[in-house]
Amino acid sequence: MTGAACYSLDTMADDETLREYRTGSDPRTLRDALGCFATGVTVVTCFDEQDRPVGLTANSFTSVSLDPPLLLVNVHKHAACARALTTATHFAINVLQTGQQPASIRFATRQEDRFGANDWSRGEFGAPVLQESLGVFECERFAVYEGGDHHILVGQVVKASFNPELDPLLYFRGRYRRLHFD
Ligand SMILES: Cc1cc2nc3c(=O)[nH]c(=O)nc-3n(C[C@H](O)[C@H](O)[C@H](O)COP(=O)(O)O)c2cc1C
Repeated sequence: MTGAACYSLDTMADDETLREYRTGSDPRTLRDALGCFATGVTVVTCFDEQDRPVGLTANSFTSVSLDPPLLLVNVHKHAACARALTTATHFAINVLQTGQQPASIRFATRQEDRFGANDWSRGEFGAPVLQESLGVFECERFAVYEGGDHHILVGQVVKASFNPELDPLLYFRGRYRRLHFD
């Protein structure tokens, strides 16, 4: 039994709740446990060597440092655009809003024309920017680290923009969600 589960047994009185806990070292339990961490949703974009826009949906985005301004996203090594994203001088993190769930699905689906149906433009620093996004971080590649089956792509933010009126698209337990205000 994991430490977390032991802690729960020691401190929680509600037996019904305890029976709901799942514990394991198998990949399914790991994925489901990681899915308990609610995130926003981003689309990471750049231009490939043929100057075609490429990108993929990613929720592994996080901020790293304010000075210098760094952020990271983890890109699966087998993703079609992994090479482009890890070699492009610039990339963009497009933070999605509730109306962009179709874009999130499109950018996570193979053999889709990901950019054709989207309103996008070339950003000031040469990465594709999706219109109507909640926020956009235009980045210069800072570092790429090994992370098991993923590349850890670190970018230095050269421009940040956001729309304070829009609400974020969220992802939790394998499903899209939105903020709920009581
Ligand atoms: C909500 C969500 C979050 C995702 N987060 C990531 C991620 O952080 N990193 C990653 O490499 N793939 C992530 N994916 C999967 C990629 O979007 C997907 O595997 C990829 O687009 C597959 O197509 P490709 O190989 O043609 O790029 C995520 C998918 C979804 C739906």
